[in-house]
Amino acid sequence: MTYQVEVIDLAKLPPGNKVLTQQEQVYYDTLRVPKRRTEWLGGRFALKRLLSKTEQVDVKQVEILPTVDGKPMVTVRGKTYAGAFSITHSHGFAVAALDTQADYIGIDLEKVEHRIDAWKTGFFHPDELTGTGDEFLTALWTQKEAVVKLLGTGLSLNSFDVRCVQGKVQFYGAALEVYHQLGCPQISLSTTSLLPGFMFSVAQGQFS
Ligand SMILES: CC(C)(COP(=O)(O)OP(=O)(O)OC[C@H]1O[C@@H](n2cnc3c(N)ncnc32)[C@H](O)[C@@H]1OP(=O)(O)O)[C@@H](O)C(=O)NCCC(=O)NCCS
Repeated sequence: MTYQVEVIDLAKLPPGNKVLTQQEQVYYDTLRVPKRRTEWLGGRFALKRLLSKTEQVDVKQVEILPTVDGKPMVTVRGKTYAGAFSITHSHGFAVAALDTQADYIGIDLEKVEHRIDAWKTGFFHPDELTGTGDEFLTALWTQKEAVVKLLGTGLSLNSFDVRCVQGKVQFYGAALEVYHQLGCPQISLSTTSLLPGFMFSVAQGQFS
């Protein structure tokens, strides 16, 4: 399955008024923390660039507003956009992915860093820990977050209920219920570095 990715260096963002619709600007004005404002704008700019190329519209004809649970919802020229898309940001970069063929997509970018053991055992089920080292654990983290974005839940779920075991996804408990509600799409996971020193995962869901 193919998808398009747009990477934005947050140090090179255009001003909000060149990117945002009126409604988006209203939401943007409620954000107070500078880092959050920059990341929010960067994620929108990344996805708008992809959609403006695919749909041949201006970035301001694409509107991306969050639902109550933070999931982005897209309209293009006022119509709900049906393709699959996702946004992530990390350490000075915003990334968006768009897949016009997949039914669902979730992405996550994280910098490779050393994290304490309590994080590892609190966040990952023992079955997932088939490797060691910072790169392995960061990759695993991006896989899990990509999957919970695909589900549309974020980490409101128990993180043990979504398990990524050697590149395959397993669902338990509330996550399994959500997966059934989505109609049980076939999920594929891929992980690359995308940028030096980072790990990036894409979870794509498709009905066969
Ligand atoms: C969605 C979630 C996984 C975000 O993860 P994150 O690593 O903090 O942030 P990312 O930059 O990768 O992604 C944020 C984007 O995800 C998207 N997103 C948010 N909620 C979402 C949801 N329910 N479904 C799909 N996408 C969602 C948004 O586009 C958001 O960016 P925006 O608000 O600027 O539009 C969030 O639910 C979460 O729980 N974060 C906590 C992170 C955490 O505790 N991780 C555990 C490691 S110890």
